[in-house]
Amino acid sequence: MIRPPAVGRPSLHWETLALDGGLEIDPTTRAIAPNISMSVNNMLTPGDGAFSADGVEDLTALPFLYARWTNPTVRQLEQRMAALEGTEDALATATGVAAIAATFLTCLKKGDHLIISDVCYAGANELARRILPDYGIEVTAVNMARLDEVAAAFRPSTRLVHCESPCNPILRLTDLCAVAALAHRHGAIVSVDSTLATPVATRPLALGVDLVIHSLTKFINGHGDALGGVVCGRKELVEKIRSRAGVYLGASLSAHNAWLIMRGIDTLFPRLRAVSDSAMRIARFLCDHPGVKSVIYPGLETHPQYALANRQMNAFGGILTFQTDDQQKMAVRLADRLRVVHYAFSLGHQRSIVVLLDTNEMMKSTYRLQGAQLDDYRAFAGDGVFRLSVGLEAVEDIIADLDQALR
Ligand SMILES: Cc1ncc(COP(=O)(O)O)c(C=O)c1O
Repeated sequence: MIRPPAVGRPSLHWETLALDGGLEIDPTTRAIAPNISMSVNNMLTPGDGAFSADGVEDLTALPFLYARWTNPTVRQLEQRMAALEGTEDALATATGVAAIAATFLTCLKKGDHLIISDVCYAGANELARRILPDYGIEVTAVNMARLDEVAAAFRPSTRLVHCESPCNPILRLTDLCAVAALAHRHGAIVSVDSTLATPVATRPLALGVDLVIHSLTKFINGHGDALGGVVCGRKELVEKIRSRAGVYLGASLSAHNAWLIMRGIDTLFPRLRAVSDSAMRIARFLCDHPGVKSVIYPGLETHPQYALANRQMNAFGGILTFQTDDQQKMAVRLADRLRVVHYAFSLGHQRSIVVLLDTNEMMKSTYRLQGAQLDDYRAFAGDGVFRLSVGLEAVEDIIADLDQALR
């Protein structure tokens, strides 16, 4: 048996739940750390529970029928994430993008309408805007920071609003409380991809959001050695997504990755606090650097939505962006000269990572924004940004490394 999560405000602090949420001492081994159960199937009592296209009627009656549904180790991770987000339940998936795809394909059917942030994780944006319309799902992309645009986008068929805060890659924020209120007024639900914020920085459920999605691959695992995703929310909805994701899409998480990710979560709070402190110092250092033209970080007073960041975020996180002159040349120079920071894609790992995201390339490959939406993108990103994911190295070493490479 696994301890069920406390819904809403827990009796324990979030930091403690990051260690103990869903953790049950194994009665046979009495191991304190979670055991890895690799078994694909578990013994059944005939007649227990039943599957259907819309989920198992009662997961507690039939928890570990077959590992594509869930597994004892994966379930512990799900309970831990539900406890951390304060939701009734959670579903762990093979990747973050699988959690997003399963959410879209469960909440939307032919004739339904999705409102999505015009800038969000590239895979989600491309899936929504290029693939869902092939299945008869209508999609409107809006700048979620413009609430009048969001309000105007609703149709009677709108079922889901999908956003990010801060959004990858430009770190624009969404007022989650306001967007959730709008969506609920129109009978729609809201999913937020909270990967960049993590449960340490933002508590979407308390702001009215219905589904909280994470790429566990990033800060939550935090060690760059396991792919994973999660969607947290009401039990009934999560179970419906589980049947699509696990049973029909086959996007199940491996027990081994679940175990690695739980080990990462043990240190999520101190890691996030450390990278947030370092990111703040690095952001201030870059603001004063002669080789840097501009810096975007939610913790800087110069962030266009600093007031919202202060209101909505408990920590400002480990991602910042900066711009330089002649960025293509600078990218080559950074890749060549950096010794502590790594020039690579991805984010949220224990090691610092930087990469150039050129605006024209991003428009061509993914966002295809025009007019006011493109102007809004450029207000945060100009011709492109270096996205820096701050790691756990000594902040003085990161700063010295950036300084010698940027000069
Ligand atoms: C905000 C965000 N969401 C989702 C994903 C997808 O995660 P995964 O690589 O685990 O599929 C990413 C990956 O970069 C991301 O940055």
